[in-house]
Amino acid sequence: MSTQENLQGAFAGESQANRKYLAFAKKAEADGFSQVAKLFRAAAAAETIHAHAHLRAMGGVKSTAENLRSAVDGETFEFEQMYPPYIEQARDEGAKAAVISFQNALAVEEVHAGLYKEAFAKVEAGEDMAAATIMVCAICGNTVVGEAPEKCLVCGAPAAKFFDIN
Ligand code: FE2
Ligand code: FE2
Ligand code: FE2
Repeated sequence: MSTQENLQGAFAGESQANRKYLAFAKKAEADGFSQVAKLFRAAAAAETIHAHAHLRAMGGVKSTAENLRSAVDGETFEFEQMYPPYIEQARDEGAKAAVISFQNALAVEEVHAGLYKEAFAKVEAGEDMAAATIMVCAICGNTVVGEAPEKCLVCGAPAAKFFDIN
């Protein structure tokens, strides 16, 4: 394998380790092991450093306009090509949690693609997006610029389930 391929594999592995450790930290916290939770969060932060270094080494971080284009492409691939067959197969197999998880992701990736397209147009014109809060649904990941809706349009969760990003 080429170094470029190795960087891609290492980036994927480190990225997954980051998210896995954060999930493990939440569980450790819930189980009353707060120091173990801290260790998981520390290792997760380190894996992010490794993932970012690998991504930069493979030339994966470009101008913000190019990064937005890459983000639009990734999100579009996911909601158009990747998730529909995943959902179908999960339904066939009666894997209910997977169906819901894939459906939530599909809907939200479409939202992301739209938001990234708007951001791309702004950045191409030399402008930042208009200042606004951005809210994320803790249940499905739905991403809303401005106030949280009364009910999440993707999963139906109430506004209180949204948290804001700064
Ligand atoms: Fe690592
Ligand atoms: Fe997304
Ligand atoms: Fe939601």
